[in-house]
Formats: sequence, C-alpha cells, structure tokens
Amino acid sequence: MRAVDIIQRKRDGLELAPAEIEFFIAGYTQGEIPDYQASALAMAVFFRGMTPDETLALTNAMLTSGAVLDLSDLPAPKVDKHSTGGVGDKTSMIVGPLAAVCGVVVPMISGRGLGHTGGTLDKLESIPGFHVQLSLVDFKRFLERAGLAFIGQTPQIAPADRKLYALRDVTATVESLPLITASIMSKKLAEGIDGLVLDVKAGDGAFMRRAEDAHALASAMLTIGKGLGKKVVALVTDMEQPLGRSVGNALEIAECIETLKGRGPKDLESLSVELAARMVWVAGITEKIEGARARVREALASGKGLRKLQEVIDLQGGDPRVCDDLQRLPRSRATTTITAPSDGRIVRIGCRSIGHAAMLLGAGRETVAGYVNPAVGLTLHKKVGELVIAHEPLVTVHSDDERRLSQVIELVSQSITIGQEAPPLVPLVREVLS
Ligand code: URA
Repeated sequence: MRAVDIIQRKRDGLELAPAEIEFFIAGYTQGEIPDYQASALAMAVFFRGMTPDETLALTNAMLTSGAVLDLSDLPAPKVDKHSTGGVGDKTSMIVGPLAAVCGVVVPMISGRGLGHTGGTLDKLESIPGFHVQLSLVDFKRFLERAGLAFIGQTPQIAPADRKLYALRDVTATVESLPLITASIMSKKLAEGIDGLVLDVKAGDGAFMRRAEDAHALASAMLTIGKGLGKKVVALVTDMEQPLGRSVGNALEIAECIETLKGRGPKDLESLSVELAARMVWVAGITEKIEGARARVREALASGKGLRKLQEVIDLQGGDPRVCDDLQRLPRSRATTTITAPSDGRIVRIGCRSIGHAAMLLGAGRETVAGYVNPAVGLTLHKKVGELVIAHEPLVTVHSDDERRLSQVIELVSQSITIGQEAPPLVPLVREVLS
C-alpha cells in the first residue's frame, strides 16, 4: 500500500477501505508518512467528505493509535459528557458531580480554551492548587475513590489526533465534518466509557453557528459512537448568548458552586440537570429519563453534588474551602461597570463578541501556548429578554490590566442590543438525538 494512492483515491472521490485508512493513520502517527501527505489527504477529505463507514474507520484508527483506558474493573457504568464548546459553558463542573452522586463513574478528559471559547481545564486550574496533569494511574485511582476525576489530554491518548489536529489547524482543514467527528470521538472513546452524552452547541458563540450544522455534527458523532458499540445521546443546545451570567475562569467556578447550592442562573441549572440526567439514563441507572431527572434534582437539592465537587477538588490537590468561601478564588484587581444607555429589553447579546472580550481581558488564549489569567472576565447582569432601565448595570468587567480595557468596554457595549420587544424565546435544548 502507498500513501500517494490513498490520497489519489480520496482526491477522485472514491471510498477508502478501512485497511487503507488504518495504514495511513498508523503510518502518520509513527512518522513514516510525512506531514505534506497527511495535509494532502486532509484537504482531499475536506472537499470530498467521507462516508459513515470511512468516518467510523478513521475514528477507530485514531482511537487505537494510543492507549484506551481500561476501566472494566470499576463495576459502575462509565459515562462522560462532551460539549463542543461555547461561551460561559461551564456545565462539566456541575454535571460531573451530579452524575457521580447518582452512581455514574465520570472519567472527564477535558480541553483548554482557545479563541473566544473557554476550556474546562483552565476553569479548574483557577482553583488554587488544583492539578489536571494526572498520571493515568492517579486518574483511575481517583475515579475509584470519588466516581469523578478531571484530567487533561495526555500524549498516550489518541496521539494521531494530537498530530493531525495541529496539522489541520495550519492547513485550513479544521472545518470538515468527518475530521471533526473522528477527532472528538477518538479522544472521548479512549476514556474507556460505556456511554456518552454530547452537548453540541449551536449559535453565535459556538463552533457550529447554524443549527443545521450542529445537527449534522451531532448526528455524525452519534452514528460513530453507536457504530463503536457505545450508548450515545446528543443534545443540540443554544449558544446564541453566554450560558449563565459569568464568563472567565474563577468567575465561572464561583457560578458552578452557586449553582450546586441551588442559587445559580436558571439556564445553567436547567441545562446541567438535563445533561446529568441524560448521563444517568445512558448509564442505565433509571429506565426512564423522568426518573433520572428526579435523581439528579435530588442530588442538587440535598447538597450532595456540591460535596462531591468539594471531594474531587480536595483529591486533585485544590483548596476545597472555595466551596464554602468564594473569596478564596482569585479576584481581579479592578472592576468596571457598563450601564444601560436606555430603557427597554435585552434583544441580543453577541455571544462571540463577549467571548472575545473575555479573551482580550486575559481569560482565554489567542494561541495554543498563551497564558490564561484565572481572575479576569465578565459578569452579565442581564440576559436576553430581560427588562432594563437606563443606567442600570449591564455588565461588570473584571480586569487586571488597563491596556485593553477601553477596547473591551467598547466591544461589550456594542455586543448588547436593547430594544422594545423581547425576541422570541429560543429553547435551551433545541433537539435531542438518540
Ligand atoms: N474539537 C476537536 O477536538 N477536534 C476538532 O476537530 C474540532 C474541535
């Protein structure tokens, strides 16, 4: 078999055989197939697409390019949740503890933020002392103890994706449905899970802005998950405005803690309960989704979810006292309040602009190697549809550096539209695919 023939067949629109895909991915991972041939294939896939069978073979080849965690000696069902990312999307720190309290083992391998979107690892690292670079042995040990642990991507997990994703990033081949599907699913399925709940975001602040594209991605990932023998549910959820009211790492952790105390924003609470319930249901702990929702609500109302988060923070080296005292989280040096220019209702909050503003403050990174400031970010006092009176606070900017403050204030002010009529309500969960 030769790499050039495989590239040519894909270039000409032919379907690749699983053996060809395996040969190419194995050769690329081991350095036998060079970057220039891998970029040519990625570009051919970008234009020609892949059939479900090809995408399945690609996912499998990427998954088996590295270690697949063996959690079979943990008796409970193992289920994770994956979100395609957005602004203020902090559900992992709520959903993980709630699902774990209900008896699910949740091995969360999470990512970092890039561009306008935040990342779970950056948020967790804003808790003083919290470690996400665990060895796989410790990861498993913590899962045994607490039923939940958070870890960053390791070199052992799906190394083919690590290499290929970096290449796609610089060859304009990221936005390819089969390549995205295989990339996400290979990493998730390497966690040794029995089931997966996918939260595919749609809207201005999401990777997929159009609901149709989010649906297509959800459906492709569902097909692959099922094809590899996993129980999968995908939710397409709204990302037209930030989730909750906080954007920025420590601010978001504080909001998660408040939500686990029953005092969080309603949109964040309801999506978190729904995602955790889907995990409980996928795990087979309840027969019906209503039963799963009731269990998750009980885990929330009883405070057990918060105690589980506290236990995990403690296990992973963080300061568990943050759960009782939010002042222990990093705080910015200055705050500035942006007020409403007129009376009316909030018609739109430009979600992507809010994400960019948070990144400019230092809450996110512009390049993969960039530093993230845990303390800075934005608090939204108003959400879409809410009434506002002139001069009322709209947004609090938490900053550490004067230099970009005026740019941030302008960006945030322009991203919020006040009108006279509330826009039609968009459901938070747009669609459920199973
Ligand atoms: N996230 C991933 O992990 N992979 C992609 O290809 C796109 C988003």
